[in-house]
Amino acid sequence: MSDHESKTPSQIDLSQPPGENIVRVTFEPENKTVEFPFGSLPYDGHGQPMSLLDVAENYGIFLDHACGGVAACTTCHLFVKRGAEGLSEAEDLELDRLDMAPGLQLNSRLGCQCVIERPGTYVVEIPSWNKNYVQEGKPAVKK
Ligand code: FES
Repeated sequence: MSDHESKTPSQIDLSQPPGENIVRVTFEPENKTVEFPFGSLPYDGHGQPMSLLDVAENYGIFLDHACGGVAACTTCHLFVKRGAEGLSEAEDLELDRLDMAPGLQLNSRLGCQCVIERPGTYVVEIPSWNKNYVQEGKPAVKK
């Protein structure tokens, strides 16, 4: 993680809403929550700047991204459980790729393409098969 101003998970009071101009993102199922001032996160080089993949990479949270974040695979597939209204609209490239994703749901997004556009609370779930895939030590590339 870079030296941008942010709170560690133990410093975040989940009983309170995030402060003004703060982005709070919880990654399930690990329930790892991170917070940072909107616009302060340095670009980590994977996916769109301020995408959920970019946030995950900044904080060392594993979100598979076999194609490097260019919407050419579906390994960064996740479910947006809260905060969808604060994310960028899915463009044709993302929608076309999502059509090939396993376990597609109405709240499916590609983590590398959906960008946080405003402060607020976001909750996303990384599908269990993504985690299992890694735990089993299999290559990260899917067709
Ligand atoms: S990392 Fe390949 S589509 Fe997002």
